[in-house]
Amino acid sequence: MKENKQQFSNTEIDDGLDELEKSHRLNRFESMLKFSRVISGSLSLKDIIKKAQGHTRKLLESEHVCIYLKDKSADYLSMTDQMGEEHSIAIDENSVVGSSAYLQATLKIDKGVSDIRFAREVLAIKKLRPKSMLVIPMVLNGELLGVIQATNSLNNNFNEQDIQFGEAVATQLTPVIQNAYLYEELHKQFIQVVEALADTITKKDSYTGGHTKRVSHFAMKIGSKLNLSWEEMNDLRLAAVLHDIGKIGIEDAILKKKAPLTDDEFAVMREHPRLGYEILKNVDSLSRVVDGMRFHHERPDGTGYPYGLKGDEIPIIAMIISVADTFDAMISTRPYRKGLPPMVAYEEIRKYSGTQFSSNVVEAFSEWFESTKMYSVNRLDSKKKAS
Ligand SMILES: [Fe+2]
Repeated sequence: MKENKQQFSNTEIDDGLDELEKSHRLNRFESMLKFSRVISGSLSLKDIIKKAQGHTRKLLESEHVCIYLKDKSADYLSMTDQMGEEHSIAIDENSVVGSSAYLQATLKIDKGVSDIRFAREVLAIKKLRPKSMLVIPMVLNGELLGVIQATNSLNNNFNEQDIQFGEAVATQLTPVIQNAYLYEELHKQFIQVVEALADTITKKDSYTGGHTKRVSHFAMKIGSKLNLSWEEMNDLRLAAVLHDIGKIGIEDAILKKKAPLTDDEFAVMREHPRLGYEILKNVDSLSRVVDGMRFHHERPDGTGYPYGLKGDEIPIIAMIISVADTFDAMISTRPYRKGLPPMVAYEEIRKYSGTQFSSNVVEAFSEWFESTKMYSVNRLDSKKKAS
């Protein structure tokens, strides 16, 4: 199929159109311009798709718009519905969406035409009772990236102008989606390099292994309960992976010691966030991440280290890492002591909410922890009775 092209010109708008139609078409042009600004401002695929669906629904004056993306390694398209549930549909001629992807062609089905393929659309669309449909493939350099599906025109049927605007949306959206894929890929590689670097610390440390990965995992769970933005979640993951990078500057005799530290040794150890800051402060791509690492041992009551910050002076990302790090430190077995049961560690974290830890973060941590298999009130009760 030839790729979607924008086919508009000023003369086209002027020729043979009444005032009402002209103003309607100009509004649509304006809306298109707004659309390109909005979608090019984001690198999050989820964000882009959500915004594009809302915008295209209004632009094409339809009851519903759904954007499907092609799976990279298989011949099917997938979409996530409003409930967050994922649906997939095969790229073949058994459904309208699948046909459009298979043929790489725009398909328009008018009201009153009984199309057997409607029966094979995904569940979310079936609920709508499709009457009319406009489906446009998104193709870049001959490669199918996905499909835009508009269901039920509010003006009886989709017309030629709807096709032009729909194809213009596909033309604008396709490279933006491709960019988001590339960014995700680059970001994934960047994280892997950072993880490899952070692993060198774990190998020197007295943890039995996997501490960085677990802190990162717990931090992401807390972050999602706090509804952090996509950008904040990315920063959180990196800050969590890098939180102890400063330990690279701590001598092995202290770092690898198989017994509790003396006061002097602990004073040296307490410098690791500052050392980490010195290592990373000039890395441009980590400028938003550095403070999450630098302040992960600070406490809201001001008793943390090495800076003694208080309350709101401590960034939320650092406060999340503090809870995640402390929780893992408590449940991990070290050469000189056995790890605590998760329920006991959870109770300890809650006990210091508002003093050692941010109370908002502890709430989010509790919400996540109580939804896991680690949470068992009975286990804690029986332990208390036994002791
Ligand atoms: Fe630390």
